[in-house]
Amino acid sequence: MNVRLPRAATAVLGACLLLGAAQQALADDYDLQLEVMAGGCANCHGTDGTRAGSVPPLAGRDADYLQERLLAYKRDEVADTTIMNRIAKGFSDDELTSLAEHFANVEQE
Ligand code: HEC
Repeated sequence: MNVRLPRAATAVLGACLLLGAAQQALADDYDLQLEVMAGGCANCHGTDGTRAGSVPPLAGRDADYLQERLLAYKRDEVADTTIMNRIAKGFSDDELTSLAEHFANVEQE
């Protein structure tokens, strides 16, 4: 028992460290995935969402507003849409929320 306890403690500690590393890797993966997703939006909405042309800019806009619009497109609740209804359907609600937060945090130039 005297010998097993430290071993068990070491194993628990090791598992915690591994779990921490795995969580960090998952977070990094998700950041990368978000960058890739957001890159597709930038094709139309401008690099980092700042340049617009006739497409509305996204950078620095209110996250709640962007999220609400994206979810509305996805649920076919927006009448005057040309493309966003189709694009929004390709993402989960969580992904749309992440994209909204991402663009809200891009500084407007
Ligand atoms: C093919 C071009 C194109 C791509 C790609 C695109 N959008 Fe759009 N987006 C538009 C257009 C055009 C509108 C105006 C509404 C419409 O016609 O559907 C719009 C509108 C929006 C709006 C509403 C803005 C406002 O002022 O109400 C949001 C939010 C948005 N897009 C987010 C995104 C996100 C996030 C992505 C990436 C997942 C994306 N868009 C990808 C063209 C695009």
